Amino acid sequence: MISRKKFIAGNWKMNKTSAEGVTLVRDIVAAVGKQTDVEVVVCPPFTALESAGAALEGSSVKLGAQNMHFEASGAFTGEISAPMLRAIFTTHVILGHSERRTLFGETDELVNKKVLSALKNQLKPILCVGETLAERESGSTLKVVQTQTERALEGVSKDQAQTLVVAYEPVWAIGTGKVATTEQAQEVHAFIRGLLTKLFTEPVAQKVRILYGGSMKPANAPELLAQKDIDGGLIGGAALEARSFVELVTAAAAIK
Ligand code: 13P
Repeated sequence: MISRKKFIAGNWKMNKTSAEGVTLVRDIVAAVGKQTDVEVVVCPPFTALESAGAALEGSSVKLGAQNMHFEASGAFTGEISAPMLRAIFTTHVILGHSERRTLFGETDELVNKKVLSALKNQLKPILCVGETLAERESGSTLKVVQTQTERALEGVSKDQAQTLVVAYEPVWAIGTGKVATTEQAQEVHAFIRGLLTKLFTEPVAQKVRILYGGSMKPANAPELLAQKDIDGGLIGGAALEARSFVELVTAAAAIK
């Protein structure tokens, strides 16, 4: 059986100034900066990326952005491109987060363009998919997740797919304190792995890390992380404090 390295990423969303970000990163690095059993990524807002990157230099903690534009440069006021992110040593980028989809109108087509651009520029996408409460209640969870996944990955090659990270984030669980049950989460994770098998072959699907996101906390993480197809977490609220974030990394490291 292939064992996938667990993956814990902190999505800071629109929180932390550059100085606050440095403090948080220093505390994280002091606790888990030599962690090699778990891949640890912090995703600060753009204004804190470069300083956070400097603060984690020399540690095993990696740097991710929360969004990007699909073009490399040009007249796109207010946007940031993949080469700009690469130039400050960003390795990962969150794409298609439900907040981008619902609050900023991002479509599957746009997410697809961003995924292709990230991969072309050697940035590893953390592709977010997930259903709303209404979609879950109407029984269309798997259909929604399938459409979002397939559309976002159109044109992605088998080779590129190996570097991909997928995050299943049920929208109703984000920032609400309502966490999906382990059964609900595992069901969707296994379904996503099945989709990846169809799209890219079994060996590729076995390599891709599929994260759970939505009110993951130190208290509920061990049970979620012990599921066969749950390879880590994309953490919002609990990533804003070093203590809880470090506890989540430790919980992931404890799963064998
Ligand atoms: P919370 O952990 O705050 O629910 O946020 C999850 C999330 O959206 C991570 O991207």
